[in-house]
Amino acid sequence: MSATKKVGGLAGVSAGSTSLCTVGKEGAGLTYCGYDIYDLADNAGFEEVAYLLMHGKLPTQKELSAYVAKIKSLRALPDQLKSVLEMTPANSHPMDVLRTAVSVLGNLEPEGNFSNQVATADRLLAVLPSMLLYWHRFHTDGVRIDVETDDDSIAGHFLHMLHDKKPSELHRKCLDTTLILYAEHEFNASTFTARVITGTLSDMHSAITGAIGALRGPLHGGANEAAMELIQRFKTPEEATAGVLGMLERKEKIMGFGHRVYTVSDPRNSVNKRMSKTLAKEAGDMTLYDVSEAVEKVMWDEKKLFANADFFAASVYHFMGIPTYLFTPIFVCSRITGWTAHVMEQRANNKLIRPAADYIGPSLQKFVPIAKRS
Ligand code: COA
Repeated sequence: MSATKKVGGLAGVSAGSTSLCTVGKEGAGLTYCGYDIYDLADNAGFEEVAYLLMHGKLPTQKELSAYVAKIKSLRALPDQLKSVLEMTPANSHPMDVLRTAVSVLGNLEPEGNFSNQVATADRLLAVLPSMLLYWHRFHTDGVRIDVETDDDSIAGHFLHMLHDKKPSELHRKCLDTTLILYAEHEFNASTFTARVITGTLSDMHSAITGAIGALRGPLHGGANEAAMELIQRFKTPEEATAGVLGMLERKEKIMGFGHRVYTVSDPRNSVNKRMSKTLAKEAGDMTLYDVSEAVEKVMWDEKKLFANADFFAASVYHFMGIPTYLFTPIFVCSRITGWTAHVMEQRANNKLIRPAADYIGPSLQKFVPIAKRS
């Protein structure tokens, strides 16, 4: 058997070391810099977690206040970037918009020397929601929004720009919690992409642009949008059960289920599921939640596949009035913390990432000049 076959998709292969995160590790589960994800989701705010990933330690109150103020001060968009966002077609997918916007920012505000890496990471964290919602509101509502609200938290700021009013504390907190859950996940496809680009000693904007491209696909971050499209198809749990059984019979993949590393559950799911139920009750309509639970049950009963972080995140976002096509971009607004932390970690002990491949093409052939080829 060839090595390619043995390690298809690099499953189970260690491709480096990290001190940022454990995923599915025996006795540890999902941790960021040694902290359990449940402790962080229950007790910390997203900015606190961002600081942790950036600096490797939890901030003091003073450090957190300074960090929040700093990030808040970096939300403005350069005029040239606003023009690009206005010119980017209204029917673009917002992941493509973010990919382009980060790339343009790399031209307008190049990282330059790596000694600017923390400042570049802070800027990206602060400006991603501005890029996304400036473009969204311009093309859907025809308005040029002010991207500098007085909300301290990124979650509050995001919902404020989206809905033109301050969110309820419940909605702000739920979005904040999903940002914590999405922030970091070891050597997932997009983070690995960022590390590969970084390994060539390229700049942070290039690494993040590539990471956004990797996250976009439905096998990765795009699964939350696909999950929403799925649950919206069904009006009742019974319809959902029958529909999903049919999809499984046709060997279709159900997005939002399964995971490369976790084997029995995704620890982030229980938190998202709880929030989904709370928000469904608040909305006074349990249909989407009940349908989601029915899908979850059938996937476990039939395939022993569990809901991953993306499945219940879909209804959580939906209940907050967030359009489906903004779901994966929210993932970007969160994962930027993990990505930039990995860029810095890669640089701190850099080695070009360049694996080998098993050659399966033709054996050496005699070159025939074009005039003599039949
Ligand atoms: N729906 C239906 N079947 C699934 C499935 C899903 N969501 N996820 C895995 N399977 C099945 C595959 O069809 C395959 O079956 P087979 O052996 O009979 O062919 C088997 O389980 C292994 O799946 P595979 O895709 O090879 O595993 P992987 O480790 O390469 O993939 C994922 C992991 C996450 C890409 C995969 O589970 C998936 O595609 N999930 C849906 C997308 C998603 O939610 N992505 C977000 C991840 S956080």
